[in-house]
Amino acid sequence: MMGIHFDEQKKIFHLSAKDTSYAMEILKENYLVHLYWGKKVQSFGNSNPLQFLDRAFSGNPNKEDRTFSLDTTPQEYPQYGNTDFRKPAFQIQLENGSTITDLRYKSHEIKQGKEKLLGLPATYVEDAKEAETLEILLEDLVAGLEVKLTYTVFADYNVITRSAAIKNVGTENLKILRALSANIDFREADFELIHLPGAWGKERQVERQPLRPGLQGIESARGASSHQHNPFIALARKNTTEDFGEVFAFNLVYSGNFLAQAEVDQFQNTRVTIGINPFDFSWKLGPSETFQTPEVVMTYSDQGLGEMSRTFHELYRNRLCRGTYRDKERPILINNWEATYFDFNAEKIEEIAAAGQELGIELFVLDDGWFGKRDNDTSSLGDWFVHEEKLPNGLKELAERVENCDMQFGLWFEPEMVSVDSDLYRKHPDWCLHVPNRRKSESRNQLILDFSREDVCEEIIKQVSAILSSVPISYVKWDMNRHMTEIGSALLPSDQQRETAHRYMLGLYKVMEEITTAFPHILFESCSGGGGRFDAGILYYMPQTWTSDNTDAISRLKIQYGTSLVYPIVSMGSHVSAVPNHQVHRITSIEMRGDVAMSGNLGYELDLTKLTEEEKEAVKKQTAFYKEHRHLIQFGDFYRLLSPFEGNETAWLFVNKEKTESLVFYFRVLAEPAAPLRSIRLKGLDAKKKYIVENLGQVYGGDELAYVGLSVPHDIQGDFQSYVWRIKEV
Ligand code: DGJ
Repeated sequence: MMGIHFDEQKKIFHLSAKDTSYAMEILKENYLVHLYWGKKVQSFGNSNPLQFLDRAFSGNPNKEDRTFSLDTTPQEYPQYGNTDFRKPAFQIQLENGSTITDLRYKSHEIKQGKEKLLGLPATYVEDAKEAETLEILLEDLVAGLEVKLTYTVFADYNVITRSAAIKNVGTENLKILRALSANIDFREADFELIHLPGAWGKERQVERQPLRPGLQGIESARGASSHQHNPFIALARKNTTEDFGEVFAFNLVYSGNFLAQAEVDQFQNTRVTIGINPFDFSWKLGPSETFQTPEVVMTYSDQGLGEMSRTFHELYRNRLCRGTYRDKERPILINNWEATYFDFNAEKIEEIAAAGQELGIELFVLDDGWFGKRDNDTSSLGDWFVHEEKLPNGLKELAERVENCDMQFGLWFEPEMVSVDSDLYRKHPDWCLHVPNRRKSESRNQLILDFSREDVCEEIIKQVSAILSSVPISYVKWDMNRHMTEIGSALLPSDQQRETAHRYMLGLYKVMEEITTAFPHILFESCSGGGGRFDAGILYYMPQTWTSDNTDAISRLKIQYGTSLVYPIVSMGSHVSAVPNHQVHRITSIEMRGDVAMSGNLGYELDLTKLTEEEKEAVKKQTAFYKEHRHLIQFGDFYRLLSPFEGNETAWLFVNKEKTESLVFYFRVLAEPAAPLRSIRLKGLDAKKKYIVENLGQVYGGDELAYVGLSVPHDIQGDFQSYVWRIKEV
């Protein structure tokens, strides 16, 4: 049973989600402290109450009680300046210059369901019975400040979501210097920190290391969640594996600058905080104004990382992603980027589309280069009208030619950007992010439009909508190809310049909300030079993301494995591309490329007209196979079996909800002399069911497949090999 219970006598809140409990206490003098997060307990009696000791150099807010210090107390939303010397979740500055606050519990309210977060992406419910929400109001009378902490528990998920809203209830202006979304003070430090660092072409590589004393964490100050770090961290017990052990995971539903850190203090407590990066951030909060922080999704699993991921996948597929495509099978696409780059015309596009039709592909995506005078990456971003020399008969005619090949038509945009060589920039040079008297550093020859401005957002909505409503478009790829520098806005006053990056995100979310709701039949895929903005914030608006610009099958094993820690398989765009691969120049077979790409949302990104007859046959087989199994792959449960970060082999499997069907993918990177004979034990099947392993024509019990396993065929030869077992209930 899910629910939120407040024990009036003990002043203890007990929140329970599906199989998770969370507890807090209102201590004497109304401090809100953290007691527990973990496996569900039926009732919370506080068997392990906080202990108070007089600790040297941990000062005492109340001189009568030398055992009480905030420095030694686990808190829900710690602040700066009165005895806690660890990093606060929150800090504001008053007009008198002081940066100290003293928040105490004021009141609380328990509500059915879950409210929307104003202007920000968040998980949601469709029926109020799916969740319960607790709002706790903290106040600081001196500062004229109220902070509302919001906690939601879900009946069907081991998830608690949190956010904070900061309200100025006084008469002076306040300046927010730090406003993280959530804080947990664990009363222990025996954890390992897991996170997903990366780079362009190498996103979300799994890192795991024991916590050390002091601060450790990740952040982005790039104006995007970034390729370099993902807004996800988890604390796992040392013995936690894919299938066993506890893990506490945090994922921020936000696409901009973030901070996620763990601080191990002198007494072996661990403080985890996550939210908007306080670096180069501040927010002016006038009287009566409220600042809402983004949401954090906190997942607890006592069945390892596998269960953690399946919880995120399920929640995000069903209660983060929205729109027509949330529950719909996604089409197999062909994208012309690596086939033609900027060098195409309508005839070439039609040829590729016609070839795609023969091969069973369903959607043609026209990538970069169709607009303005865009023949390379030096011009035209911002000029969202057709490139007349390249496509003299217009986009509509081209879309119709593609549709005549029985393919849907999709189009690339990069709406947040402007080229210096563009009509838009010539007309509005102040519409980009910039700082007076400083150069505007370009990256890929482009500047960033100032989406903190309403006029800029409106103009972009107008331009993009004009194309979407005049051309039969079923899919949009929304790209973003640089990070922010010289961050400033021409419209904001000097004391609000540090709001620009967050205001940009709010503007972006508004633009995405307007465009995606105005065109509900369009499938939107986000992209930022591949997976530079693969985050839960964007998934709220666009249910799939281009996982990486690196399409090499071997690199993709790690990228897709790492991405799967948090994000659902159906959200991962993955394409078969040409060999030698354009990013790493590796040659892999069409089968290997197909098996890796169809472990996600399958697409192709190569010149189909140049395929050999054998390759065409292989692609036909792949698209037919994918269509037969895509519901299982896109909406089934995902189990990781072998990690590419731990060895030469990778394996994963998909099993449908009814546990009647499964696909097992095995990949081996290099051939090895004296190679071990490998067997694979399956997961997620029903131990009581009988299954036929179609490739072998043999029937086995689900228990045998799980405990005894299947042997990997020993005649797989050479480097870069893959093998797929098809399993069905008999
Ligand atoms: C970066 C994307 O990730 C690529 O797929 C492609 O769309 C290029 N941009 C086009 O400029």
